[in-house]
Amino acid sequence: MNIDQLKRKFNEKYGKGELHCYFAPGRVNLIGEHTDYNGGFVFPCAISFGTFCLIRKTERKSVRLASVNLGFEAVVDIKDLDRPVGREWVNYPIGVFAQFLKRGVKFNEGADILIYGNVPNGAGLSSSASLEMASAVAINDTWNLGIEMLELIKMAQKAEHEFAGVMCGIMDQFASGMGKSDHAIYLNCDTLEYELVPVKLNGVKIVISNTNSPHKLDSGVYNQRVSECKAAVIEISRYKPVQMLADCTMEEFKAIEEKFVDKVVMRRARHVISEIARTKEAVSQLKNNNIERFGILMNESHSSLRDDYEVTGPELDTMVEEAYKIEGVIGSRMTGGGFGGCTVSLVKEEAVDTFIEEVGKNYTMKSGLKPEFYVAEISDGAKKLF
Ligand code: GLA
Repeated sequence: MNIDQLKRKFNEKYGKGELHCYFAPGRVNLIGEHTDYNGGFVFPCAISFGTFCLIRKTERKSVRLASVNLGFEAVVDIKDLDRPVGREWVNYPIGVFAQFLKRGVKFNEGADILIYGNVPNGAGLSSSASLEMASAVAINDTWNLGIEMLELIKMAQKAEHEFAGVMCGIMDQFASGMGKSDHAIYLNCDTLEYELVPVKLNGVKIVISNTNSPHKLDSGVYNQRVSECKAAVIEISRYKPVQMLADCTMEEFKAIEEKFVDKVVMRRARHVISEIARTKEAVSQLKNNNIERFGILMNESHSSLRDDYEVTGPELDTMVEEAYKIEGVIGSRMTGGGFGGCTVSLVKEEAVDTFIEEVGKNYTMKSGLKPEFYVAEISDGAKKLF
């Protein structure tokens, strides 16, 4: 669906008149998984898939919401923008409206909104963060509120906590808001200091493989991991004062690893602490053009997510195992929350076609599922299109 078709859809639905369009991308995380809510480092980039939000302010006292992708539509009175609307997708934009209300913004008029997204849903590429961020920039600009991007990012994260019940970290909304084409974002999720690192891969492509697995990371399992990390902080605090897992180095952890009462909690902590170290190293290797080492760290990240954090599952594991067999694959790991969703692989340009063919064939043979592949284009963050 292109912009002209979207405009036409909007006008058919709501009538002709002035309208504006905003776009916010999804993201792929290169390394640094399940570290964000532990104050660690992440290294995502915004991708060209994302969510479009077409919007027109109206005199009506309600917000009408429709989506090109999903059938559910809603009309929400401006008095009710502070509460969830069942379990449907409209909860995300309404959750964002609610954050503006919390900041004291008063909406005296409503709006007509049409959403279109091309991030595959539930694939670990942040379809929900891109919907939140597209809504946030659209509302901010339509009502001339002048709130800075970093604040919008935090508001979008809060919307996810309060309206979707997922106690996520800040990575997805941050990548969607701050992305820059051909750069990855090296973000310290504690201080929110970040660096845009050029991704110059010299003949190597970033290939995203969608397992199309029905197993999704639901909020229950995600929030359970968040709690296990909190339990790990309490265990570690018996030996060293820490506020979050990012406060403990790998050396410090190794010295107390055996003493953990709960071995599951120990393994969760081991993943997070080692992943933070891997992410730091990976970024410095990339800066030194050592892509081979970057790839090894990606592979180690996957193993740690599989064995210690237990968020991969058979489909993601099969997808990376098949990738490792292809010559020209530099590294491969799951990306995003886990269970179903996507892997991210660095693949030499000349091997990409073979990769897609062979991994696709073997993955289908082993899982019975048909995967999809996308060669990632690293794109800009949320913005107004017109
Ligand atoms: C989901 C969350 C992020 C992050 C990743 C795992 O995408 O929304 O905040 O925790 O999982 O790295």
